[in-house]
Amino acid sequence: VEAASAPRREPRLPAAEQSSHTGLEPLFRWPGGKRWLVPTLMGLIPDRFGTYYEPFFGAGALFFALRPPAAVLSDQNAELMACYRAVREEHADVASHLRAFPRSKDGYYEIRAAHPAARPERAARLIYLTTLAFNGIYRVNRLGEFNVPYGGREYPALGSAGSLTAHAAALAAAEILSCDFEVAVASAGRGDLVYLDPPYTVAHSNNGFLRYNERIFSWRDQERLAAVAAELDRRGCHVILSNAAHESVRSLYGSFRVLTISRRSLIAADPSHRQRSEELVLTNAR
Ligand SMILES: C[S@@+](CC[C@H](N)C(=O)[O-])C[C@H]1O[C@@H](n2cnc3c(N)ncnc32)[C@H](O)[C@@H]1O
Repeated sequence: VEAASAPRREPRLPAAEQSSHTGLEPLFRWPGGKRWLVPTLMGLIPDRFGTYYEPFFGAGALFFALRPPAAVLSDQNAELMACYRAVREEHADVASHLRAFPRSKDGYYEIRAAHPAARPERAARLIYLTTLAFNGIYRVNRLGEFNVPYGGREYPALGSAGSLTAHAAALAAAEILSCDFEVAVASAGRGDLVYLDPPYTVAHSNNGFLRYNERIFSWRDQERLAAVAAELDRRGCHVILSNAAHESVRSLYGSFRVLTISRRSLIAADPSHRQRSEELVLTNAR
């Protein structure tokens, strides 16, 4: 018989590979994007829920796969959320800017250096740069200027973004905010579904970006997030959270069910050097 205080141990699960959802792919790649985790997350979605909340939206892999009818979407990155508002309200303009952008390395650097003022063109620029940037990374310098080198990715990748109708429809009924996660979920109540996917703070398996991430999302933020998750649980929300597989993170979510998901790491270019890395998915579903 296990001691009552022993931490709950659950088997390690490989990330589900088959995706049965009929939803959409995200508009672009994003650091920490969860496209790869969507099949696993879909298995945890309750049959019925009220409003869907996603306060660390990024590229919104789960939202676009799920396409819930009522949603509150938010991210601290204001440029990113303005892009989704433009896609929702002026998708034809965004698409026509995207089609007009140059298809060359020099053209990429021209667009990178430009600072368009109009919202649809800014949105097109964000989609263009995140699609063609090296490793699909979104990164800005201290002045807020996008500074990722050209990635040489195939231009057909922009093809799906050339028609934004389906994404505009998915966003049509959503409330789109840009604020801190705690503010974004303030209105969540009984029966609502909240998916929390913060930047990872602790170093885990192959993540060497501890100091970088500590600046973006500190350990204090991780503690604040755990307190918010506990409060959402008390309010009767369904809560799903992904985070780094680290004992310090796990210890913040005592009463939550913990799944350890192992994934083949995509960090090394040479497949023989690829390793398995692990991430946590936590849920208050009993
Ligand atoms: C791991 S990414 C989310 C990825 C997303 N699930 C996807 O599939 O693309 C974390 C996001 O949290 C945002 N963020 C960082 N600190 C935040 C805060 N305090 N409040 C809200 N969003 C924050 C970042 O801008 C980033 O887009």
